[in-house]
Amino acid sequence: MNADVLDTLIEKTIIPSFSSIGPRLRRRLYHWQDLASYSLEGRVIVLTGGTSGIGQAAADLYAALGATLVLVARDPGKTQQSIARLKAASGNDRLHCVLGDLGKRQEVERIACELAEQFPVIDVLVHNAGALYNERRRAPDGTDLSVELMVATPFLLTGRLLSQLGYRRPHPISPGAQRSSGSASTSEFLPTENDSAARQRPPGRVLTMSSGGMYTQSLSVENLEMPDEDYHGAQQYARAKRAQVVLNELWADRIPASQIVFHALHPGWVATPGIADALPGFSKALGPLGLLRTARDGADTLVWLSADNQAASSSGDFWHDRARRPIDISSRTRSADTPARRQALWEWCEQHTGWNFQDEIPDHVQ
Ligand SMILES: NC(=O)c1ccc[n+]([C@@H]2O[C@H](COP(=O)([O-])OP(=O)(O)OC[C@H]3O[C@@H](n4cnc5c(N)ncnc54)[C@H](OP(=O)(O)O)[C@@H]3O)[C@@H](O)[C@H]2O)c1
Repeated sequence: MNADVLDTLIEKTIIPSFSSIGPRLRRRLYHWQDLASYSLEGRVIVLTGGTSGIGQAAADLYAALGATLVLVARDPGKTQQSIARLKAASGNDRLHCVLGDLGKRQEVERIACELAEQFPVIDVLVHNAGALYNERRRAPDGTDLSVELMVATPFLLTGRLLSQLGYRRPHPISPGAQRSSGSASTSEFLPTENDSAARQRPPGRVLTMSSGGMYTQSLSVENLEMPDEDYHGAQQYARAKRAQVVLNELWADRIPASQIVFHALHPGWVATPGIADALPGFSKALGPLGLLRTARDGADTLVWLSADNQAASSSGDFWHDRARRPIDISSRTRSADTPARRQALWEWCEQHTGWNFQDEIPDHVQ
């Protein structure tokens, strides 16, 4: 059977695709290049959630491939242990950390400042930190914590680090030219004067770890946070993960792919402390059958997107097992994904975080 036909078949039947069967089969079908054959020497990678599970496995790989790796993490002891372990295993001493809680906006602002100061060039920003809360938790301002952690925080960090990632503020076509109206399209602007130097640099990459659970939830901004009386942890998590995937496309609409590319992905079902804690029944049912992926397999596509040239040749895609995948598998979620809701999601993120894309456009052309 043709590889693409078989891949589509397992994709449509979900269990083989999401489980450990997926990478086992696809690695052979598509002759995946061994990650060990890539080099990330000279690349600065900023990774959230690198102290556990998938992120920890990704950190192992990044360190082994020679990256300058920056862990953004909240627990000082755990983070120092992670760095010591990574150094011992890889011999790489370009390992750094910035400490802070990604569920607290003030700390996220400080983290962004520290990153921007310490790393004027960031090649890859990985939004991997995430959690499913069976009991509702809230950020300091009362926002649902999964929404804060997985929607607002990645938005704010990306926004604050755009120039480090390679975004170049546009200059007007003619002095004093006025932007017509509407969204901040960069197409009306000429490249900046230092573009030729900047163009030597490959586009930065922003990678967002979503979840296949997002297939179950429609895009909604009014219901991005479930009401207390209907709260259901897995559904709330999936709503945030749906928003991540849509935001990935919205960033790609706004930023030229020659400067920064944006990709989202889902890792399948992976044996991690996070999933054992949040979905113990699921872990106990699938684990003994060998159907959960290893953390290393869960990190494979993430690290591959960080290293392979394919990721630099497009933007706004959603990936699983090194292939682009649709963001909808049901007409219900597809029809809910309207331009108006997308715009509302972007505006919600701007209002909520206080970071505004218009501010990236110089005042004299607004
Ligand atoms: N495992 C799966 O099957 C699966 C499936 C689909 C998607 N995912 C996604 O994959 C990503 C990694 O999940 P995982 O299963 O590897 O989970 P995990 O083992 O629980 O790891 C989560 C990581 O996020 C960090 N984190 C959580 N809240 C944070 C906060 N407020 N501030 C700073 N860091 C925070 C954790 O830090 P600490 O070490 O300090 O706790 C940890 O490093 C998540 O985005 C998850 O939604 C996982």
